Amino acid sequence: MLPEPLSHPAAISMEEFAARRERLMAELPEDSAVLLPGAALKTRNHDSEYTFRQNSDFHYLCGFPEPDALLLLLPGREAGEAILYCQEKDPEKEAWTGIRIGPEGAVNAYGMDEAFDNTQRSSLAELLDGRQTVYLPLADAGAMGIAEGVRAQLSARARCGAVAPTRFADVSALVHELRLTKSEAELALMRHAARISALAHCRAMHASRAGRFEYQLQAEIEHEFVWHGARAPAYGTIVGGGANACVLHYIENAAPLADGDLVLIDAGGEFDLYAGDITRTFPVNGRFSEAQRALYDIVLAAEERGVASVKPGATLEAIHQGVVRDLTAGLIELGLLEGELEACIESQSFRRFYLHSTSHWLGLDVHDVGSYRVDGEPRPLEPGMVLTVEPGLYIPDAEDIPLPYRGIGIRIEDDVVVTESGGEVLTAGVPKAADAIEALMAGQI
Ligand code: GLY
Ligand code: MN
Ligand code: MN
Repeated sequence: MLPEPLSHPAAISMEEFAARRERLMAELPEDSAVLLPGAALKTRNHDSEYTFRQNSDFHYLCGFPEPDALLLLLPGREAGEAILYCQEKDPEKEAWTGIRIGPEGAVNAYGMDEAFDNTQRSSLAELLDGRQTVYLPLADAGAMGIAEGVRAQLSARARCGAVAPTRFADVSALVHELRLTKSEAELALMRHAARISALAHCRAMHASRAGRFEYQLQAEIEHEFVWHGARAPAYGTIVGGGANACVLHYIENAAPLADGDLVLIDAGGEFDLYAGDITRTFPVNGRFSEAQRALYDIVLAAEERGVASVKPGATLEAIHQGVVRDLTAGLIELGLLEGELEACIESQSFRRFYLHSTSHWLGLDVHDVGSYRVDGEPRPLEPGMVLTVEPGLYIPDAEDIPLPYRGIGIRIEDDVVVTESGGEVLTAGVPKAADAIEALMAGQI
């Protein structure tokens, strides 16, 4: 039976995009400019292209959804501060690839003060004349090429009074700082992405059978994403049965699922460019073995404590240290690590079984932007930040490991918003307690 459609949250409003641009420009001197290209189409093979995905920083500042656009911000310009260059209207091309928004649409539907088509890029030099500092993504060769071209044109006209920019500065860190704290409208989109992602994980649990292939669970997951309007995965879906779960970024998803193994699924849908990011690990046949459950419950307890410790003022580093402590204590208890707790933490012997960090920011990018440290110190969490909590244990298939634990990989991952008083878990729609997973897989919930 096909699932019920969910009602969609509102898209980010034109006013909110404008307010973001204002916040950015408020940090810049008057004689500066921002130059930010959007993404271009990328060739997949011959004349086929990958599905277009807009550049996240560009999207954050204007929401314009087409390839080959360029945003220019000119703080203090009386005739308008926000200018966009975009694909030209072209009836013949539009007959093949769809209606283009065009400059008029950019003004009317996207709140630009002025817009030109890309055949008019030569007007850039005129607009940037007299702007001392151009803020742009310094790591983006295309953006640098455009800026260098403009500087050369203006320098060549210096004797006619043109003033070329004297400095290029990085815009990325400024935008990333803004992106780190999510607005209510963004949180509504993230709740939706997380809800869809949770439904997808439930669907994969229902579909799991020994003998099915990892890619068949991927198909279930991605069906649910697209059905609910999350038109692409936010990152490559990971479905790892048995020891494949120990490969952190396993994406082959090509092996058959074996009776008695666990399967790890790390998958999240992207809704209106916002990412969900969930991992669940469950038994292929619906029942945990004793050894699997023993390991699972260690990861679960660490994860639950990590999630519960999300609140303003906490840090990702402290959450990670708590997780490491819980996992290490569990490994000692099971006899997989020898020695005292403090000594195992100090020597980092736990890293044989847990080598990634516990959290990352989440937003328009799955590993979202924003600095993790401020003045060299771990950054205290603030309301509106969104992070993952994702501890795991990955037990090598090695001779010194007791047989029942060999080749088991477990990760449990939830998405959490920092609130005024603690954390709001966005991904509670998919169970994680072993009993609850077994009940769902048995068709009881
Ligand atoms: N899905 C990538 C991650 O969990 O970080
Ligand atoms: Mn993650
Ligand atoms: Mn993940």
